[in-house]
Amino acid sequence: MERKKFYITTPIYYPSDKLHIGHSYTTVAADAMARYKRLAGYDVMFLTGTDEHGQKIQRKAEEKGVSPKKYVDEIVATIKELWKLLDISNDKFIRTTDDYHIEVVQKIFKKLYDQGDIYKSEYEGWYCTPCESFWTEHQLVDDKCPDCGREVELTKEESYFFKLSKYADRLIKHIEDNPEFIQPQSRQNEMLNNFLRPGLEDLCVSRTSFNWGIPVTFDEKHVVYVWIDALSNYISALGYLTEDDSEFKKYWPADVHLVGKEIVRFHTIIWPIMLMALGLPLPKQVFGHGWLILEGGKMSKSKGNVVDPVVLVDKYGVDPVRYFLLREVPFGSDGIYSEEALVNRLNSDLANDLGNLLSRTITMIEKYFDGIIPEPKEKETVDTELENMALELPGKVDELMNKLLFSNALTEIFKLVSRANKYIDETMPWILAKDESKKERLATVLYNLTESLRFVSVLISPFMPNTPNKIFSQLGIKEDELKTLESLNNFRGIKPGTKVEKGGIIFPRVEFEKQEAEPEEKHTVKSEAKTKTDEQAKPEITIEDFAKLDLRVAKVIGCEKVKGADKLLKLEMEVGEEKRQVVSGIAEYYKPEELIGKSVVIVYNLKPIKLRGIESKGMILAASNDDELTIVSPLTEIASGSVVN
Ligand code: MSP
Repeated sequence: MERKKFYITTPIYYPSDKLHIGHSYTTVAADAMARYKRLAGYDVMFLTGTDEHGQKIQRKAEEKGVSPKKYVDEIVATIKELWKLLDISNDKFIRTTDDYHIEVVQKIFKKLYDQGDIYKSEYEGWYCTPCESFWTEHQLVDDKCPDCGREVELTKEESYFFKLSKYADRLIKHIEDNPEFIQPQSRQNEMLNNFLRPGLEDLCVSRTSFNWGIPVTFDEKHVVYVWIDALSNYISALGYLTEDDSEFKKYWPADVHLVGKEIVRFHTIIWPIMLMALGLPLPKQVFGHGWLILEGGKMSKSKGNVVDPVVLVDKYGVDPVRYFLLREVPFGSDGIYSEEALVNRLNSDLANDLGNLLSRTITMIEKYFDGIIPEPKEKETVDTELENMALELPGKVDELMNKLLFSNALTEIFKLVSRANKYIDETMPWILAKDESKKERLATVLYNLTESLRFVSVLISPFMPNTPNKIFSQLGIKEDELKTLESLNNFRGIKPGTKVEKGGIIFPRVEFEKQEAEPEEKHTVKSEAKTKTDEQAKPEITIEDFAKLDLRVAKVIGCEKVKGADKLLKLEMEVGEEKRQVVSGIAEYYKPEELIGKSVVIVYNLKPIKLRGIESKGMILAASNDDELTIVSPLTEIASGSVVN
């Protein structure tokens, strides 16, 4: 019989060397789902990749003095490494710079043009470079980009447009008829009420102001920009419009596109309309998950080691990091991330509950049965309770996984772990062991514990791919057929007589050491980009609060690197008559010689502090986001010491 297919995708990632634990979230979740479906016997296609074109990349490559391709090649290699480190089991990795993808995008663009869905016109609007999005005046929020809250530029240029409006009614109907299409439900309402029902404007799909993109074959000064290029990856990766489109025929439509909430709109409006225009079926579901945020606001790699997935995996191991990501936060919601919470989870769920269950079980089998798993005998009520809970678990997990409720699925699995630990306390094997006539009872109890551990191991394997084998090997389970989902319809899987092999502690407890924030972090203003949902907005202040700040223009008259501190520059400032010294964490962004002679704005009345033993009086204002930082400077020359207000 032909196996059922399951096609799951992550978004393709922008090449950034600053991928943080939040980015790993979508990919780890997709991986858990792909692994679960493989376990359930599906023929799975799991796709991820990188989204490599656009003005932003071009600018960055120029800044670095390398070609855009060279620039992305290096970063893509580190992204692939990261997925390897996190045990991501993707079947394919697509790069939008791959030749086959480029050709498919060109064919799609031409097809849509030939059938009249793409037309040429002139665009005048507001452009957000970081998001690579055009906005109309009324879409802006406080004159800023409605997606990321950053500054936008007024732009006018000849462009091709895609007739989104033509398909809007069909899409509304599709969404209404298929409540599973956009999940969670709240995002569906948002799309219908905020975007589709008010009416769609046609979408600008080409640019002429930069060239790092896919050329439009029939009008070479245009490059296809962003969404037609990026979204097509989900079908080009399967060979759509290529000589061999067998995988496309086999796996399309996708079962799930997993995306972060900020790109739900592209995936549930632009993408389905592109597919409608191409005459292709729509994906069965787009699931928009929430964000991991830090207590102080938006996550970014500049927040240091606490968010660096490589550092975290190195410190805590890949399985605990994956477990934490999927357990801590219900998948549709935003969640606060902290390293302390990760350590707490590791200690309580993994070291205490699961780790202890295994070591207690193995120790008792060694002690009371010379390391041989005994044959279970008559059941008592407490045994049946444990057994029933185990036997019902796969069904519950299946239901939750099919709704992408990872955290709930893990909660259910760990209920069995807790139940088994409680079972030990209730049955008190150490008392049974004292009485020879209770030997059979003791055998039953210990056998049931090994089976419970087997059930847990099979079910956690999609989330923690390395842990099950450690458990199986301690339990002496070698047969692959005892590691399958089907084998969980029987609570008598393990053969009595199997020899256990005590191994090391699978999850050593860890002590959480609170890291002091890097001093240079504190010393530059991080203007967190404001998002639509405003998670990181600071509380409102009064004009009196603001008046407490003494901001002044200062001129940099000398500047050098601070020895032994990669991020720090020591700047000599002239502020009116006064000379003062400021230390600032901007060495990664500016060379000393670039700053000498420049006017900047400083917080003049900030309490002096010492950084690496050097006194710093005042703080330089700079704007920054995840990837970039720029010093705030007066637009025209003005005397140093001038007051800023
Ligand atoms: N290139 C686009 C997607 C195009 S898909 C056709 C893109 N790339 S991204 O690199 O910015 O984001 C990749 C994924 O990481 C997105 O799903 C995004 O939501 C996710 N995350 C980035 N930061 C995140 C958190 N702090 N928390 C959870 N996920 C977040 O968007």
